[in-house]
Amino acid sequence: MELLKNSTLFRLVFVLILLLLSACGERPEIGGMAVPEAPPRQADAAQLAMGEQVFTTHCAKCHGERAQGAANWRKTDADGNYPPPPLDGSGHAWHHSREVLKGMIRDGSPQGEGNMPAWKGRLSEEQIDAAIAWFQSIWPKPVYDAWFEMQQRGR
Ligand code: HEC
Repeated sequence: MELLKNSTLFRLVFVLILLLLSACGERPEIGGMAVPEAPPRQADAAQLAMGEQVFTTHCAKCHGERAQGAANWRKTDADGNYPPPPLDGSGHAWHHSREVLKGMIRDGSPQGEGNMPAWKGRLSEEQIDAAIAWFQSIWPKPVYDAWFEMQQRGR
């Protein structure tokens, strides 16, 4: 009986300490471990459906059905142009912020020298955002997390 009372008291104090801790800190701590905040991936089902449709219709013929890109995407072709790179997280699209990615899709290859078409006027902002959300949804989590962190740092 005595033991039971003690442990009830102990639990009460423990809960009080936890409450105090979570009230002070930004992030609650449980058993000394910070609870990680999962970065919010774009997971709006309607947006992803639109993105997949845009990608299949306009992008897949060059970048591949699953955004896998051309096998030899790192090497320029006979005309000195780069083949379509992968956008599935295995290339380096994730080095670019959302704004930079949008600019590349809107304006195409820099100075029109290359084979990426400009989509300005052909796709709406909403469709471009959706296409990005769709190919980001297939990035492996560590790739997305690294991109998200860079985006947070404002690169
Ligand atoms: C006619 C072929 C073609 C089509 C269609 C095409 N792309 Fe591309 N895309 C390319 C090529 C080639 C590059 C490389 C550009 C360069 O080096 O000049 C590229 C580059 C990109 C990049 C930059 C990637 C990086 O790693 O820097 C993004 C993002 C991209 N495309 C998205 C899209 C999206 C979204 C669509 C559909 C709306 C699309 N592309 C349609 C050929 C294409």
